[in-house]
Amino acid sequence: MKKYKFAIVGATGMVGRTFLKVLEERNLPIEEIYLFASSRSAGKKIDFLGKERVVEELTENSFDRGIDIALFSAGAGTSLKYAPIAAEKGCVVIDNSSAWRMDPKVPLVVPEVNPEDIKWHNGIIANPNCSTIQAVVALKPLHDRYVLKRVVYSTYQAVSGAGMGGYNDLLYGLKGESPKKFCHPIAGNCIPHIDVFTENGYTKEEVKMINETRKILGLPNLRVTATTVRVPVFHGHSESINIEFEKPFDLDELRDVLRNADGIVVQDDPANNVYPMPILAEGKDEVFVGRIRRDESVESGVNIWVVADNVRKGAATNAVQIAQKYIEYMEKE
Ligand code: A2P
Repeated sequence: MKKYKFAIVGATGMVGRTFLKVLEERNLPIEEIYLFASSRSAGKKIDFLGKERVVEELTENSFDRGIDIALFSAGAGTSLKYAPIAAEKGCVVIDNSSAWRMDPKVPLVVPEVNPEDIKWHNGIIANPNCSTIQAVVALKPLHDRYVLKRVVYSTYQAVSGAGMGGYNDLLYGLKGESPKKFCHPIAGNCIPHIDVFTENGYTKEEVKMINETRKILGLPNLRVTATTVRVPVFHGHSESINIEFEKPFDLDELRDVLRNADGIVVQDDPANNVYPMPILAEGKDEVFVGRIRRDESVESGVNIWVVADNVRKGAATNAVQIAQKYIEYMEKE
């Protein structure tokens, strides 16, 4: 099997470090790995597979060395500028920022849902928003069986979704310090405001969830709405998802559909207080689904509670899974 040259852009960040951890765990065919971040981090040392690597400043020449696959998580501005430069040099970029997700020339991929979309990439493959990834993993098998009619998302999102800055706001906020990343204290609070507000009163995070769900599922007209909320949890996004179907369903069968789906673990035993929670999902790669119950206010509807580790499945793991699928397709060619 061919070995590949990898690069991590944003290697010192919350997601960047997790890219490295997941790459180590999954034993990818890596010939070499290069680590990039801002000038602030140049010279820092990070261990990868037992060897110390030096972080380099990202520049326009960073990709002049035959890099095959680059995982980016250094913000949308960095991706907008550098992903095309990398792609131009023959590198495939898997980008965790929001910069390219809605570009019609860029596939937006969750490997359990639409792996085939990887095949039409033009050098950039987008990794979806963390809250969208875990939602569509649960929605896809249900859509295949019962056909989605309408979806209502309400999220409870961890501070790590806002990177190191968000994480530190909760850590130091618990000790009484004022927030630096969020516009309000997050310790002991819920903030119904993730990313900036848009003209119609929705936040960008909510708009991302709506648009990305439609794109990944290939359902441009799906009726979907969202309210996204930051909560004082370090790791793991939780989502209440209310779904209406076109077709009728049997609740036990629906539970089995989820149980048999790729990447899902059903935790649904309320009599024994078993349901998904962020503390159970931390460090895991699966999407956990529970509280599965009929929505009795509509003809064919269900409520589910969906939890995943936002830095792993919601970001780093999904990107590494895309890299694995990409390599699998390359090997078949
Ligand atoms: P640095 O540590 O040098 O600032 P997080 O989302 O956890 O805050 O991480 C953001 C990541 O993106 C970090 O690795 C950060 O590097 C990197 N980054 C931020 N701005 C740039 C930039 N202009 N060029 C390259 N990397 C950047």
